[in-house]
Amino acid sequence: MSATHQSSRVAVGIYPLSRNAISMSTNVLQDAAANGYYGGNYDIDSLTLGKYKTWSPEGRIRSDDTLAPCEISSSISFHPACARRQTSESEMIPRKRLDIGWRDLLFGMSQCLSGDRRAKSHAACRETTGDPDEALFFLSLRSGFDACLQAARFPRGSQILVSAITIPDILEIIRSHGLVPVPVDLDPLTLEPDPDSLRSGLTPGTVALLATHLFGARNPMDSLVRFARMHGLVLFEDCAQAYWGDGFTGHPDSDVRMFSFGPIKYNTALGGGLLYVGDPVLRERIRRLHSSYPVQGKGWFFLRLAKYGVVLLLNRPGPYSLLCAACRLLGRSHDAVGYRATRGFRGMELLRKIRRQPCSALLRLLSRRLHSNALKPRGCRREAMAFHRSVSDLCYPGRRAEHSYWLFAVRVGNASDLCRRLWDADLDAHLWPPSLCVVEPDRNLPDQAPTSAMALRSQLLFLPVYPQVGRVRLGHVSRIVRRWARPYE
Ligand SMILES: Cc1ncc(COP(=O)(O)O)c(C=O)c1O
Repeated sequence: MSATHQSSRVAVGIYPLSRNAISMSTNVLQDAAANGYYGGNYDIDSLTLGKYKTWSPEGRIRSDDTLAPCEISSSISFHPACARRQTSESEMIPRKRLDIGWRDLLFGMSQCLSGDRRAKSHAACRETTGDPDEALFFLSLRSGFDACLQAARFPRGSQILVSAITIPDILEIIRSHGLVPVPVDLDPLTLEPDPDSLRSGLTPGTVALLATHLFGARNPMDSLVRFARMHGLVLFEDCAQAYWGDGFTGHPDSDVRMFSFGPIKYNTALGGGLLYVGDPVLRERIRRLHSSYPVQGKGWFFLRLAKYGVVLLLNRPGPYSLLCAACRLLGRSHDAVGYRATRGFRGMELLRKIRRQPCSALLRLLSRRLHSNALKPRGCRREAMAFHRSVSDLCYPGRRAEHSYWLFAVRVGNASDLCRRLWDADLDAHLWPPSLCVVEPDRNLPDQAPTSAMALRSQLLFLPVYPQVGRVRLGHVSRIVRRWARPYE
């Protein structure tokens, strides 16, 4: 190592292709540290040759430029201790971590065993919200949305403009009220509703607009608010994927702002929906309707908490690897098993299942989660930014928006192939999930097909990019993506 570089602090990327490579790289890193370097950037060839490269923070080669150029994850810094830890790991990294801990689960269970204090629990929830006067709490976002549509009493056959990517149950709820969802195509770069598609989908029968924030991005709402006002539409803002506990309550001028605390969401309470409804008349109607629903059984919620206790146990690399291996042995896909385990209201009879009030235990748990979250907003932004820098020429839908990276999506031309390669490296990426759908155009508006959103369905790949993955494994994800990702057409 040349003495002239000893004072530079260089960023590090390391590729743990095999256990051997890692232990060699640990030596190399220790060597680097002993020579006053913060780290270096290594690839497998240079490691097997016992050589290495160092890079400046800008990514320029500073030494040993006789080797073939290696791929660099220049922004992911790394400490040798991580390499030592990594040597014992060849475990599957889960695609996502449940955002809840044992204490909250046990708290929820204890509430299931205590007396019913629903009025107090409601008040406790309201206190934690940014806008207590407008807040209504439900069993789920879907329950709240369904109650809104009942209370709004739109004429049957009316149309609702809907962001072209949403969840299937939302469409089922709209249709169950005799209403017609009309897709609004999305800009594939920003994931914002496309203004041309918005205008072309508008008819004299349009009564509402449902705008959905996707994957953790928060899209600007001002132009949609103006559009809704201009055409007399009720504006629903679906913030289920846009919440990361920083006091965000949606756009103040959206008529209904909807949040979810279902199992895979940030700060989950394993259920619960929060709607802010601006119009006092509509709010009162919804409140009255909601109070006529039966109350969710505490026993049911207790079992749900117990089930997610098991999911929590399996949601770590070691047990998750065992689960994946067991699935392989049984000829089942771990993908399908995972989706089944975390699906909300299963099977038919969606409306019967969602038309219940939350029990006091759920409300208590929700208020506890909302309260604790007010202190520590979260997200995967740091890891996402590092990834962007390490693979800078890839398409990241929604990148320019304010983003929590609740899901980390990349758009590529070979999503299935890349997903398989990541699985082979014990990194649980996933393709378009069954919990999302692209809205089909209505028979009467065939030109309204959301072509960009349809293309995304086969081109999006969701990567495990979140804090618990660790820097070494994140470097590994970025290396595989950089090496194998192909551009989309
Ligand atoms: C965009 C979107 N809308 C609505 C929902 C439904 O939320 P809930 O499970 O609280 O009904 C989800 C849940 O994943 C979602 O992602």
